[in-house]
Amino acid sequence: MRKKIIAGNWKMNMTFDEGQKLTSEIVNMFKDEAVKDVIAVLNPPFPHIFPVKKLIGDTPGIALGAQNCSAMESGAFTGEVSAKILASFGVQYVILGHSERREYFKEDNELLALKVKQALAHGLTPIFCCGESLEIRMAGTHESNVKFQLTESLFDLSPEDMAKVVIAYEPIWAIGTGKTATADQAQEMHAALRRHIASKFGKELANNTSILYGGSANPGNAKELFSKEDVDGGLIGGASLKSRDFIDITKSF
Ligand code: 13P
Repeated sequence: MRKKIIAGNWKMNMTFDEGQKLTSEIVNMFKDEAVKDVIAVLNPPFPHIFPVKKLIGDTPGIALGAQNCSAMESGAFTGEVSAKILASFGVQYVILGHSERREYFKEDNELLALKVKQALAHGLTPIFCCGESLEIRMAGTHESNVKFQLTESLFDLSPEDMAKVVIAYEPIWAIGTGKTATADQAQEMHAALRRHIASKFGKELANNTSILYGGSANPGNAKELFSKEDVDGGLIGGASLKSRDFIDITKSF
């Protein structure tokens, strides 16, 4: 059975105090409202990692993630943070290949393949992002474009490693724009990605891979998105910065 996951991507938001308040609220609501059968992953900016970890403690169902990791193992790479360091601080997940990293920091499929390997080598679960631009969607080549991102960055993995990867489909035109993909558009792409994974790694592995949707997901549209067969949760930006909204999304299955 594949896992249901709601991952909050805080992006470059939240001061120390704001992050502490948000995390405490999320942890308390998650416990008080007995949220079940879903993993909530908080992905704050790096400096929050340790203090957020302390607030999460051993709360069942809440996990800690980072937003990036280095493609390198260790050494003289000023400003970088390795998967090994993250793992040593109790990080369990890492978002890789987000379209903002691809666009603003020029991360390509080859570099992302190295990052995925680093993450897996140190026991982190990659949340591997893929997604097409509006231009590509208009041209009608979105499916092949997104499949190619998976092929290039993930298809060299062993089946054992691939089985640990979580996929997030985030159409770029839906990120931070308030314009969500329809539930049918999400389902269509998720099913195509699952078939693509099955073509390389077999049906069973594909059926056990969690595929999350991201892009203007909120408490108002989450239920419909998650009602689709191949949508196993969400990667949430803006709405993950509000405890009430984030918790409501975790309860939308
Ligand atoms: P929004 O939910 O703000 O559109 O962001 C989505 C996203 O990029 C999550 O990684």
